[in-house]
Amino acid sequence: MTQKPDLAGFDALLRARHSCRGFLPDQLTHEMIGSIVQAAQRVPSWCNAQPWHLTITSGAETDRLRDFLFQAASEEKHNADVDFPEEYRGVYKDRRSEVGWQLYEQMGVVKGDRQGSAREMMKNFRFFDAPHVAVITSDRALGPYGVLDVGGFVTAFCLAAEAAGVASIPQAAPAGFSGQLRRFFNIPQERIVVCCVSFGLRDENHPSNQFRSNRAKLDEIVDWRG
Ligand SMILES: Cc1cc2nc3c(=O)[nH]c(=O)nc-3n(C[C@H](O)[C@H](O)[C@H](O)COP(=O)(O)O)c2cc1C
Repeated sequence: MTQKPDLAGFDALLRARHSCRGFLPDQLTHEMIGSIVQAAQRVPSWCNAQPWHLTITSGAETDRLRDFLFQAASEEKHNADVDFPEEYRGVYKDRRSEVGWQLYEQMGVVKGDRQGSAREMMKNFRFFDAPHVAVITSDRALGPYGVLDVGGFVTAFCLAAEAAGVASIPQAAPAGFSGQLRRFFNIPQERIVVCCVSFGLRDENHPSNQFRSNRAKLDEIVDWRG
């Protein structure tokens, strides 16, 4: 029998999820990963196009990918299929800075420690040692709404994963090297690399997993009319 969903249960799931940056090496089965993907597929998309496509790595293939991308990010030029933000300004700059310092504090990176912050940033390209990576693409012709649909899918994937006891982190940083990912996986030109999601079992003791990001107050994000 299907349980009737309620907001309290959903809220508990939303609060349990966070971006995980420290994983255990344990591999998940294709069956387990498939059940997460299938749950996430229930999100809405414009015209039900479901533009997401995932290339999912496991085992030695994840290690081959992290070695390749770390090297590419160290030596090659940034070339994202989806434009990165031009600027974080105002509250967006403040929020970005706040969460960045929350992470750095846990990792022992102090203000002015450029080497330390670069070291933390470069962990993106090793996928924070996650055992699995999903590289998620959209159809180029669907444009920004295809990317929007993929965004909804990514959120649902992370929530479905959490509900299955699997930790995850969406990552735009690796998509900064879309061309290299395209080459590595032979992704056709008509598809754009939107982002990656690294996932696996959470290392509860990893310092990067010891903080939780904050959220804006309701009145900062809603204008009530009427
Ligand atoms: C589209 C998207 C891209 C992201 N890219 C990165 C990334 O490249 N590296 C990273 O460490 N975190 C990345 N994150 C994770 C965010 O930093 C994180 O979601 C945010 O700080 C809120 O924290 P929480 O996920 O723990 O609630 C990304 C999240 C989203 C939704």
